[in-house]
Formats: sequence, structure tokens, C-alpha cells
Amino acid sequence: MQPLQLFGYIFLAILVQVAILSVVAIVRHMKFFDFLKRFFSGTGIKPPEEPVLDTIKDISGFSENGSWSGLRDFYVTNKVFEDKDKNICSFYLSPVDGKPLADFKPGQFLTFQLDGAVKDGDAPLVRCYSLSDGPGGDSYRVSIKRVPPPADRPELPPGISSNHFHDNVKKGDVLKVRAPSGHFFLERGTSPVVLIGGGIGITPMLSMLVDALNSNTNREVWLFYGVRNSSEHAMKSHIEELAKEHDNFHLRVCYSAPKDWDKKGVDYQHKGRVDIDLLRLSLPFQVYDFYICGPRPMLESIVPGLEDWGVPDQRINYEAFGPASINRRSQKQEASGEEFLVTFAKSGISAVWNGSEETLLDFAESNGVAIPSGCRAGGCGSCETEIIEGEVAYNQSPDFDPEPGSCLLCVSRPKKNLVVEA
Ligand SMILES: Cc1cc2nc3c(=O)[nH]c(=O)nc-3n(C[C@H](O)[C@H](O)[C@H](O)COP(=O)(O)OP(=O)(O)OC[C@H]3O[C@@H](n4cnc5c(N)ncnc54)[C@H](O)[C@@H]3O)c2cc1C
Ligand code: FES
Repeated sequence: MQPLQLFGYIFLAILVQVAILSVVAIVRHMKFFDFLKRFFSGTGIKPPEEPVLDTIKDISGFSENGSWSGLRDFYVTNKVFEDKDKNICSFYLSPVDGKPLADFKPGQFLTFQLDGAVKDGDAPLVRCYSLSDGPGGDSYRVSIKRVPPPADRPELPPGISSNHFHDNVKKGDVLKVRAPSGHFFLERGTSPVVLIGGGIGITPMLSMLVDALNSNTNREVWLFYGVRNSSEHAMKSHIEELAKEHDNFHLRVCYSAPKDWDKKGVDYQHKGRVDIDLLRLSLPFQVYDFYICGPRPMLESIVPGLEDWGVPDQRINYEAFGPASINRRSQKQEASGEEFLVTFAKSGISAVWNGSEETLLDFAESNGVAIPSGCRAGGCGSCETEIIEGEVAYNQSPDFDPEPGSCLLCVSRPKKNLVVEA
């Protein structure tokens, strides 16, 4: 081979290498499909199109954290009983659209519109259920207790929604769900927390517990869980497992009416209800944030008990399921002294608001005006009512945005004389 020919081959090889490296560099530093467009430009050949991928931002009605407005369809992907008596059942939910789940804070709830639970033409049934697992999973979980008729009125029909879930909702069904909401949640952090759950009020506590333990902060967490006995004890082995695995988690289970075969020290630690004396005896002397969810009598005993113990207001957080809100001493004092005439136009009822009720919803009910309600916490929109005249103030900022000219009665009070369409 002639030296000139050899030089030519070497030069060509270098050129090919430079070309290959340049292409690699370009492809690495620009989008692949942009590169193809440029490569084919001017050749008359149509380059392959970049497929359109949905991003959360692209979906109308979805916000950046994946939250959505209105109702979204979810498949029921699993149904699992959580207690011996099979009265508490967990439902696992995945979005039908396949898009990501919205973030939520431990303690928040989902709102369901259960069209299948009511007759055609009846008003939609709206109910809220707390997310019972920590955030970050690949599905949502709610755990629902079957509600029987009141013990003293067995002739009444049992709870509509809870029994509908237990009896009719099955794996593969589609449910209409509003995005997670609610102000009762645990923030991430390291400050010691005391979680208190009574009966089915364990659900938001479980979500808080799991999140606090998963956050690897070694945060001191206490869980006081009150139930009647082992038949009602939900997710027993799961919670016991967590207590075994985490030294920073202190579990105190209280049975108010243990069965003969329930073993103290094994199934439960304390005979009786969760009460302030038990908290004072059990908790080491230090500052705690308290989160309480349970039936009204439990809240009515523990919340004032904590206030008397000197726990500052802002460290006492609580939620009641259903029609129960308790009057905090501090709130009662603020409300006193204001009197307004409130008229429910459709019902033809007027009454004087003097601040003894916490919300307009409570006020309406105590004056015999029936108002639809779901969460009673400004999250579901069921109690949205048009304001004909006057103005309201909100006790807490609602998660649900009412239409202009309307208000959510469950979290508001009158600011002046008021006429509402109810
Ligand atoms: C924020 C929030 C979170 C919640 N989280 C959970 C949760 O995680 N798990 C859970 O199980 N629940 C939870 N709940 C409660 C849940 O939303 C429902 O309130 C509960 O399931 C009962 O609804 P229901 O439709 O079954 O009963 P309803 O139909 O509302 O009936 C309630 C009770 O009233 C009785 N009743 C029926 N007719 C009458 C009448 N004429 N007069 C008097 N009483 C009557 C029924 O027998 C029943 O005992 C939560 C509630 C809220 C607000
Ligand atoms: S009852 Fe849910 S917003 Fe008022």
C-alpha cells in the first residue's frame, strides 16, 4: 500500500470516529426525537414522531401533586377484613385512568359519592373515609366499619353507606372519589407525638403511625388504642409487628370489656377506656403533640382533660367521625356576645344565633333544619348552601371551594344577619 493511500485510510478512520462521537454527544445532549428531526430534515423523509406522554401537569383538572378536582373513578382492587368479627373491612383503590395517585398527608380522608347506595332520583349519598395507610403506597386504602342501628332503636335501618360497602361493593367495582383532603393530619418532624384512637377512629391514627415510623427520624410515638375487646381489635397483628420492630413506638391497647379469653399483657395492656389518668400515668414528663380520633364521649373526656393538664391548645388536635364536634373552651369564649338573626328561607325558619353552636350546620340541625352533610369538616361540599343575604366567617379554611355566593355551613358562622337557601 502506498504511504499516501495509507494516510488517506487513517484520515478517513479518524473522520468516521469523530462523526460517531459527535452523533453520540448530540444524542446525549439533546432530546432523541429532536435529533431525528434534524437528521432527516431536508431529506424528504418523515422522521418518527415523539409519542405524547401524559405528565401530571398536562392533565386538566389535576394539580402538580397529582390531586384532582371533582370526582375521579377508582377500581376496588382488594377487600380485606381487619377484625375477628368481620365488621371492619379495608378497601384498596387504584385510579381507573392509570395516572399517579395524589399525595396525601397522614390523617386525611377521601370523600365518596355512592350513587349505587341510593335509589335512582334520590340525592347522591356522600360519605368520608380516612386513608388508613401511610402515604407513598401504590394504592389508597380505607377501612370501613359496618354501622348497625342505634342500640336503643333497633327498628331503624342500619348505616346506608357502611353496609353498602360491606354488602355490595366488591373487587373490580368502580367508585367515585374526591381527592384526599382534611386539616387533621400529622406533619413530618421529630417532635414526640401521642396518637389516641377509639374504635374505628384508629384509621387516621394508623396512617399517622405508619408515616411517622417510615420517616426514619426515630420520632417518639405513642399509640393509645381503645376498643371493647379482641373481637373489635382491628389490624392487631400488623400494629403489634410495628411495635416489635420499632423501639421508638410505644403501644398501649385498652379493652373496656375484655372477653374471658382476652389476655392482659398479651392482647391488651390496660383494662378500661383510654382516659386522661392513663395518659398521665403512662407518658414520661415532656412536651407532646396529641392527635385524637374517636367517638364523641371519648373526645369530650380527653380534650378537656388535656386542657386541664396544661397542654397548650395548639398541641391538641382531634377529629370526630360523623355528627360530632366538641366545644373547645377557647372557641366558646371567642364566640360569646355576638347575636345575629339567621333565616333558613326554604324551611321558613328563623332563629337567633348567639354563638352557643360552633357552626351554622349545628345551628340549623338544632333548629330542625335538615342539611345534607358528609365530612362536617369543609372537605366534601355536601353542606354547600346559597347565601341570599348577609355574610359568613369560616372557623377554619375549607378544603372544598364553594361556588361564589355560597358557603359551607359545617365550618362557618354568621358575620351579620343571614338568610340562606335551606
Ligand atoms: C372525616 C371523616 C372520616 C371518617 N373515616 C371513617 C373511617 O375511616 N372508617 C369508618 O368506618 N367511618 C369513617 N367515618 C364515618 C363515615 O363517614 C360514616 O359516617 C359512617 O360509615 C356511617 O355512615 P352510614 O351511611 O353507614 O350510616 P348512616 O346511614 O349515616 O346512619 C348512621 C346511623 O344512624 C342510624 N339511623 C338511621 N336512620 C335513622 C333515623 N331516622 N334516626 C336516627 N338514626 C338513624 C343508623 O342506624 C346508623 O346507626 C368518617 C367520617 C368522617 C367525617
Ligand atoms: S359536610 Fe362536608 S363540607 Fe360540609
